[in-house]
Amino acid sequence: MPTPAPTPTSPILTSTPRLHISLLSPTPTHSAFLHDLWTTPDFTTSCGPSPFKNPDDATAFLTNRLQSIYTTSNHQRGIFLLSRRPHPTAPLVESVPIGTISLMQGTPPDGYRVPDIGFCVLPAESGRGYATEAGRAMVEYACTELGTAGVFGFCDVENARSRRVLEKVGLEDRGERALRAFGGRRSAVYALSGMAADLGVYGVEG
Ligand SMILES: CC(C)(COP(=O)(O)OP(=O)(O)OC[C@H]1O[C@@H](n2cnc3c(N)ncnc32)[C@H](O)[C@@H]1OP(=O)(O)O)[C@@H](O)C(=O)NCCC(=O)NCCS
Repeated sequence: MPTPAPTPTSPILTSTPRLHISLLSPTPTHSAFLHDLWTTPDFTTSCGPSPFKNPDDATAFLTNRLQSIYTTSNHQRGIFLLSRRPHPTAPLVESVPIGTISLMQGTPPDGYRVPDIGFCVLPAESGRGYATEAGRAMVEYACTELGTAGVFGFCDVENARSRRVLEKVGLEDRGERALRAFGGRRSAVYALSGMAADLGVYGVEG
């Protein structure tokens, strides 16, 4: 699968020595990348059927849904591009897209009072610690830059790789719940170390 270059103008949210985390935009390169990433067997096995039949569907998602989340959250929530830096000081334009990382937060009663992180890495790039590195950077960004009172991680209870990443990022296993944010589907719930034992404080049910 070809790896398209990111648009040089995509604003960077935060960076690590190996990665840039930047905003996605409805460009042909980002649309093609997102379509390819979210149609891999890794994605569909873990997250269910892809929302995209073709890159045009990804363009529509980036143009409508994601831009709306960016706008209403002052570009501090949403789904972001993960790019691998060829060397520790490489700018975004020299980096290669390898995945996405999300920091999502609805508004009560549908959403919760702190955001949750989620990630997806190309199969060819997985197993190298990129999701863990990006997750740690995103948690740091949420806590220090946004001042959130915690961070959640939700995933399918059978998704052992994702559960391992959430643990390595510093989130604790808080059991399984049927989450309204996921249409009532039973999900594994992880919460940042130090968050209240009673997750009802954050609007989480049950
Ligand atoms: C889950 C995903 C993001 C992980 O990305 P990654 O960059 O490979 O993750 P990392 O390399 O940082 O860490 C993977 C960890 O999982 C472990 N792992 C791999 N397969 C595993 C399995 N079957 N069971 C348990 N742990 C497993 C690895 O050994 C590693 O842990 P370690 O460092 O202690 O050895 C990636 O596989 C993916 O995109 N999956 C599809 C989408 C998805 O499931 N997203 C999560 C929904 S929130």
